[in-house]
Amino acid sequence: MPVNSIHIPTYPYYINGDWLESRSGQTIDIYSPYLNEVIGKVQAITKDEVDEAIISARIAQRDWAIRPLQERAQYLYRWADELVASKDEIAATIMKEVGKTLKDAYKEVTRTAEFIQYTVEEALHMHGESMRGDSFPGCSKSKVAITDRVPLGVVLAISPFNYPVNLSAAKIAPALISGNTVIFKPATQGTISGLKMIEALHRSGLPKGLVNLVTGRGSEIGDYLVEHDSIDMISFTGGTSTGINIAKKSVMIPLVLELGGKDPGIVCEDANLFESAKQIISGAFSYSGQRCTAIKRVLAHENIADNLVQILKEETMNLSVGSPKDESMIVPLIDHQSADFVQGLIDDALEKGATLVTGNKRSKNLIYPTLLDNVTMDMDVAIEEPFGPVLPILRVKSDQEAIDIANQSEYGLQASVFTNDINRAFRISNNIEAGTVQINGRTERGPDHFPFIGIKKSGIGSQGIRRSIESMTREKVTVLNLAE
Ligand code: NAP
Ligand code: G3P
Repeated sequence: MPVNSIHIPTYPYYINGDWLESRSGQTIDIYSPYLNEVIGKVQAITKDEVDEAIISARIAQRDWAIRPLQERAQYLYRWADELVASKDEIAATIMKEVGKTLKDAYKEVTRTAEFIQYTVEEALHMHGESMRGDSFPGCSKSKVAITDRVPLGVVLAISPFNYPVNLSAAKIAPALISGNTVIFKPATQGTISGLKMIEALHRSGLPKGLVNLVTGRGSEIGDYLVEHDSIDMISFTGGTSTGINIAKKSVMIPLVLELGGKDPGIVCEDANLFESAKQIISGAFSYSGQRCTAIKRVLAHENIADNLVQILKEETMNLSVGSPKDESMIVPLIDHQSADFVQGLIDDALEKGATLVTGNKRSKNLIYPTLLDNVTMDMDVAIEEPFGPVLPILRVKSDQEAIDIANQSEYGLQASVFTNDINRAFRISNNIEAGTVQINGRTERGPDHFPFIGIKKSGIGSQGIRRSIESMTREKVTVLNLAE
């Protein structure tokens, strides 16, 4: 499909089942975060081309919505099979494009195929309900309400760079199985991986117009998409500032926004420090901390903080740093701008008196894993989402102080509580403002049938397979007024 100029492929966009080059004649260079070279060019499409995508989605939706569920299911099962069949190519593309290790990239493809299969099975077992009128005082039982779920129409699915395949399919699969059509806008730095996923969908024989891939910078076509009056629902995963912009610009349509996080790891003095440290390090540093659910601060009880910091230091210094090709735990960040932001947080904290435990070393967009102790709330690293490998440690005197500091954050995605006392765990969990609290485990999304919720500036609405299907449908009530 791509037209080769010398070595750099140019990738088309995809509308109504056709692979096209934009009439804008404009393309965007995609740099590999670790190869530091252009690995491909993607189309910068025009607003007219966005309109064409939305029109084809609208037209196709009428027929798709009335197709039998089993028929829709077969296309998604085939899509999952096609993804598995082309996992080598897709995983290699994910690694090159977003700098994830090949092992993690394969995991992402496999997880996506399983997600699609589970979404189909879940939908096959979601049924409406019926109600009789006579359960309400004075009403007759000959009044019967039949409630069913119907598709919303055209869903705008916008995904982030860090899971270019999984967090895209996590929107497209529930949308399709429930009778919607999709306008898919991948992150620019994730477009090629997203396109490979759509190629697999194309090979499944999915009817034209059901899924349309629109490529281009969010800063150029994003607002136009979001404000478009033919969009019926937006499912967005990305940064909080972008999410807030979408909430302001979208008009009277359902939104699911999965945004940033500042997940705390609260370590009580009775916790198993070695197990807690393992979970914290994995939660904080996998994929260099470029996960919305990464542990982004440690709130350690002062009685055990010295021991915990020592263990965290050893664990951090044992982390492999380098190229994703070598399966390194710490890999170069998605771009230099992100690395500058992370370095800025480290510098600010050290200037304000934080203790450098280990790290604070950098080579271009590769930031070495950094632990900062004695961090206080006046330091930006205590409140900002780094999306990089820096972990601040704040010492607390009590569970209540940990809860207060945790809840001071504008974010509310997840939190971890480490203790051997289950009652204490629930006391803390019940008071933490977050969508999910993990007891003695790292913060993470999944398994993918679990509800995944961000509150406060971490989001609106809920993901997780059944929740996603529900968010892309609405109830339709038919009332039978039978003869008495
Ligand atoms: P981002 O910069 O917010 O971009 C996310 C998506 O929004 C991209 O596709 C981007 O396109 C698009 N976009 C940009 N401006 C837009 C606009 N005006 N209207 C509509 N769409 C627009 O986020 P990112 O850097 O890709 O991802 C990192 C952030 O996402 C972090 O904050 C992380 O916490 C969050 N995240 C949250 C979750 C979750 O489930 N809660 C999961 C993953 C990531 P371009 O790429 O073309 O700019
Ligand atoms: O940032 C992506 C987010 O959805 C996290 O997923 O599975 O790495 O916790 P996971």
